[in-house]
Amino acid sequence: MKKIAALFLSFMMLAGLVGCTGSNDPGKDKKIINVGVSIYKFDDNFMTLYRQEIEAYFKTLSTDEVTYQVTVQDGKNDMAEQTSQIDNFIAQDYDVLIINLVQATSAATIIDKCEAAKKPCIFINREPSVEDMKKYEGMITYVGADARQSGKMQGEIIAELDNKGDLNNDGLLQYVMVVGDPENVDAKYRTQYSIEQYIEKSGLKVDKLDEQRGDWDQAKGQEIVANALTQYKDKIEVVFCNNDAMALGAAQAIKAAGRTVGKDIYLVGVDALAEAVEMVGNDEMSGTVLNDHISQSHKAVDAAIKAVKGDKLDTYYWVDYVKVTPKNASQFK
Ligand code: GAL
Repeated sequence: MKKIAALFLSFMMLAGLVGCTGSNDPGKDKKIINVGVSIYKFDDNFMTLYRQEIEAYFKTLSTDEVTYQVTVQDGKNDMAEQTSQIDNFIAQDYDVLIINLVQATSAATIIDKCEAAKKPCIFINREPSVEDMKKYEGMITYVGADARQSGKMQGEIIAELDNKGDLNNDGLLQYVMVVGDPENVDAKYRTQYSIEQYIEKSGLKVDKLDEQRGDWDQAKGQEIVANALTQYKDKIEVVFCNNDAMALGAAQAIKAAGRTVGKDIYLVGVDALAEAVEMVGNDEMSGTVLNDHISQSHKAVDAAIKAVKGDKLDTYYWVDYVKVTPKNASQFK
């Protein structure tokens, strides 16, 4: 009798167990979407905020029906390394890629790989050429901001100062330009348009004292500006930096040289990193430009999801830059 009862009990347990994995299980039909993200390098202030927001936003979009499994890899500023990461994403049948290219000129190779594997690809932050963006239409896109706009805003911030930045009143703006990475369109356009817009808005001419490559890096920004201040001393009226990380370095060098931003020198950056916005609010930087990583990352994620659903992508999704000055800095904290 006991034996029969035990048998019955184990049968019931088994039935119960089977029931758990049966069609009533809410997790059973859950779709998993694998997203492969490769960032040009993790050690970049702005792209760190950007990639963190990609992950955070994907999390908020996971539901009972869909989970987004996001793998974010560090391209280590090495195109060969990044290419092998992309090859692996494709080999492992990831559903969609989000790529911040190490070298924008390698876009064509990556697009061809995606096309061969029928994988959609969202490029972010480093814009491929117009030619390359014509390939694999509807399945690739670039999400970003127009770097010309950020450069123009930097030029305007200085041109709109009461003295137009011309501290010595000689009708010329003596300046130092700290460039991100000369191969990158963000760096090229910011370097070019900041000055062109300054000339147009101020009606003055410019005198470039120095232009150096700082690779978007704070320590390099500091070193470049420290050297420039030693060489050109009071002649320098404005330091333009292609991004805030380098401007933060420049600010350290300016302080160390006993100069005061807003009084005997001016300093502008781009990105609106929290630290830079704080300094703009305290008149320790003349201004910066919001590079909206929240909107950009959300648009990139939205595009990825759209592509996974099988919808065609637009070739471009743009986000605007916003000027940040001591007057409006408190709105950006
Ligand atoms: C720029 C940004 C820089 C750096 C660079 C990397 O848009 O302003 O701080 O992150 O992208 O490509």
